[in-house]
Amino acid sequence: MEKEISRLEEEFQKDLSLVKSREDLEKLRIKYLGRKSPINQLFTQITHLENREEKALWGKNVNSLKEKISSIIEEKLKNAEIKEDRLDLTFPSSQVYLGSLHILSIVNNSICSIFERMGFIVIEGGEIEDEKHNFSSLNIHLQHPSRDVFDTFYLDIPEGNEGRLLLRSHTSPSQIRVMEKNKPPLAVISPGRVYRPDKVDASHSFMFHQIEGFAVDKGINFSHLKGVLTYFAKSFFSSEVEVRFRPHFFPFTEPSVEVDVSCIICKSKHLGKGYEHKCSVCRGKGWLEILGAGMIHPQVLKNCGIDSKRYTGFAFGMGVDRIAMLKYGIDDIRLFYQNDIRFLEQFYI
Ligand code: DAH
Repeated sequence: MEKEISRLEEEFQKDLSLVKSREDLEKLRIKYLGRKSPINQLFTQITHLENREEKALWGKNVNSLKEKISSIIEEKLKNAEIKEDRLDLTFPSSQVYLGSLHILSIVNNSICSIFERMGFIVIEGGEIEDEKHNFSSLNIHLQHPSRDVFDTFYLDIPEGNEGRLLLRSHTSPSQIRVMEKNKPPLAVISPGRVYRPDKVDASHSFMFHQIEGFAVDKGINFSHLKGVLTYFAKSFFSSEVEVRFRPHFFPFTEPSVEVDVSCIICKSKHLGKGYEHKCSVCRGKGWLEILGAGMIHPQVLKNCGIDSKRYTGFAFGMGVDRIAMLKYGIDDIRLFYQNDIRFLEQFYI
C-alpha cells in the first residue's frame, strides 16, 4: 500500500506539471478526487484490512495524500480565477477608428444644402443615359465634338429609340428628365457622378462629380440667376468673395456665362495692380472659374413640352471635385480616389 500511495503521488505531480488551463485542473480534480478516483479505491481497500491499527495507519496516510492533492488543486484553481479576472490597466486599449464622410460627399452635401435653403429640391438622375437626354434635347447637335466616341463612354448595348446608351457626360440630362415629367414652377438641384474618357492626370479623371441646378417659372430672368449664384458663392466660400459673370457659349443656354469667384487663397484681386506673387491656385489671375450657367434655351424648354412663350428659366452646372480642390487648395484630383487615409482624414468631421 505504501508503494501505491507514493506511485499515486508521483503520478499526480506529473499530471499537475502538464496542466495548462482551468479546464485541465478541473479534469485533474475529477481524476484524483472524484468518486472513481484511485484514492477512493484505496479507501475501499483499507476497509478490507483485518488489523485495526493497520486500518488506522493507512487510513491516515491515504487521507493526508487526499488532503495534499485537494489543497494543491484548490490553490491552483484560486490563482487561475484571479488571473482570469484581473484587469490590467496598463494594457494598451484596442483602437477604435471612427469613419467619416468622404470630402467629396461633405462638399456635395454642403453645396446642396445651400440651394435647399433657397427652396431648391434635390432630384438625382441616372448614370446611364441615352443620346436624346444627354445631347439632343439639350440642343447639342449631331456634329458636336462632345458626342464623339473619344469624348463619351458609349455602352455596347443595341441602340434604342432615343439613341445609343452611354454613361452620362454631365448632369444636364437631369434638367430634361425633370422638365419632361413636371410642370413649372420648378427649382431643382441634381448632384451625381459623370463620366468622360479623359486621360487621367492631376486635373482630369474619367469619373468625377457635378451638380446641376435650374429653375423654371413665369418671369424668371438673369437677375434671379445672378442672385442665386452670388448667394451660393458667398455662403460656400466666404462672405468676402466677389462674383464675376463672363459671357460664354453653351448650346443649352442663351445667353450663357462662366462664373468666377475672386481667389479665396491669395485674395490678390483685392491687392490691386502690381501684385506680383503667382498664387498656385489662381496662378496670379485673382479669379477662379467655378461653374457654367445661363438662361435655359427656349428650344430646350420646347423639347420638354414647356411653353417657352410663357415660361423662362435659368440653369447652371458645377464640378464638385474642382470646387473642393479650390476650397481646400488640393492640387491633384487623383487624391480623391486613391483611398489614402492620410489624405482623407484631414477632412474628417
Ligand atoms: N453641362 C456643362 C458641362 O458639363 C455645365 C453647364 C454649363 C451646365 C451651363 C449648365 C449650364 O446647366 O447652364 O460642362
